[in-house]
Amino acid sequence: MVANRLPVDSRTLPDGATEWVTSPGGLVTAMESVMRTVDSGAWVGWGGSPGEAPEPFEADGMSLYPVRLDQQDVERYYEGFSNATLWPLYHDVIVDPEFHRTWWDSYVTANRRFARAAGAVASKGGTIWVHDYQLQLVPRMIRDDRTDVRIGFFNHIPFPSVELFSQLPKRNQMLRGLLGSDLVGFQRESDAQNFLGAVRKLLGYQVDGQVISVPGLGAAPVREVLVQTFPISIDSEAVSALTEDAEVRERAVQLRRDLGDPHKVVLGVDRLDYTKGIRHRLKAWGELLNDGSIDPHDTVMIQVATPSRERVEAYRQLRDEVELTVGRINGDHAPIGRPAVSYQHRSFDRRDMTALFMAADVVLVTALRDGMNLVAKEYVASRPDLRGVLVLSEFAGAADELRAAVMVNPHDIDELKSAILRALAMPEEEQEDAMRSLRHQVMENDVQAWAHDFLQHLEQSGDPAYGTRPT
Ligand code: ADP
Ligand code: F6P
Repeated sequence: MVANRLPVDSRTLPDGATEWVTSPGGLVTAMESVMRTVDSGAWVGWGGSPGEAPEPFEADGMSLYPVRLDQQDVERYYEGFSNATLWPLYHDVIVDPEFHRTWWDSYVTANRRFARAAGAVASKGGTIWVHDYQLQLVPRMIRDDRTDVRIGFFNHIPFPSVELFSQLPKRNQMLRGLLGSDLVGFQRESDAQNFLGAVRKLLGYQVDGQVISVPGLGAAPVREVLVQTFPISIDSEAVSALTEDAEVRERAVQLRRDLGDPHKVVLGVDRLDYTKGIRHRLKAWGELLNDGSIDPHDTVMIQVATPSRERVEAYRQLRDEVELTVGRINGDHAPIGRPAVSYQHRSFDRRDMTALFMAADVVLVTALRDGMNLVAKEYVASRPDLRGVLVLSEFAGAADELRAAVMVNPHDIDELKSAILRALAMPEEEQEDAMRSLRHQVMENDVQAWAHDFLQHLEQSGDPAYGTRPT
């Protein structure tokens, strides 16, 4: 597999030694559990720091092949084109995307480096699975060099409507890059339809249902590319099993004790990203405290915010705003010795994360736009006791599947406030009914089934039913 990031991120310690820690984000959470179970699979990606790439190495049974990004690549390809152009554009322009030609040049160069690294590692006739918006040119680049491999692409984030996508300079190159794949996968049906619409409108290619006919160059035959929806998931069994661990259970109890044994604990867990609706959530929480609907003596909110993309301006602004708001809420409402909002700006390990989910009576997922949102599924998997309430934004991909959650439009602050109050007051029997239905969905559709489904469709993409792959 090829992704922008490796599952581990290198950190330089004060003594100059290198430490490897788990990389942030849902892609790594999902793919790590898939790749651990694959024999002879390789993961090609960036190690998270600028500079020379370390030699390939093994970690947790995975073979990792680091790709080099120098400081300028990080600024232009990663922070620039990936995270200040594509990310906001693909998330419905919650902030304004920036376009710079130097960023595009760097995106092309970096994509070529990833493509070459993947091509060098893949065995003859092998399968290459490319992931996410940072690497949309890679499928075509691999195909230009390696006609023997099968190529799949999965987009972990939304694909925008054709009206928004059309704003992207170099939009056609992007589409052609993706169409180097045999199979292009998306989270939601709307993403797949948006992509098919963009190919039809901007490239004028024939689209028949989910199959795109890609004309060959010169005498080359037409290729058929399958486009399909594969909603990603988590290692549901592993998360659920952690809740049986005595130490994790004790941590959950201790967490509530540390908060002063409040009657209710409400939790948000997000990368500190403007797509997650953290500002909207805090606004609703602040108003509920202001109007007395919530008593800070018996109800506490924990907001876990993983540091993310900290050198990108919109992320700096978000952090300042969130921290100012949390400070204000606590200044206005927190009783002495207990926060109204406990704000945690750091990473937690899996066990602590599970303990947090076990300690939470309500989890708030208020994304303004999100490919899937694995936090929602992790909460459900962490509640075999059938307790707890998930408040879920209709703009998160998870909303298509987790229908028994309390659904909200996070832009409507009054609706969000009512949803929070409803969740806090929900009778145990109703919680159990909803959680049972949510768990059925999450436990039956785990990340292993997702990967299997994707790879099976990729395998079949050479099947005559889907058209032939070029040789
Ligand atoms: P995204 O991919 O946009 O970050 P997801 O909700 O799909 O969003 O995935 C986030 C993943 O990161 C989840 O597996 C979640 O548990 C994990 N995560 C979020 N915040 C933290 C944190 N502070 N420490 C450790 N893991 C975190
Ligand atoms: O799919 C969401 C995603 O953007 C992944 O591509 C990425 O690995 C993760 O979130 C975290 O973002 P970043 O790699 O920029 O820290």
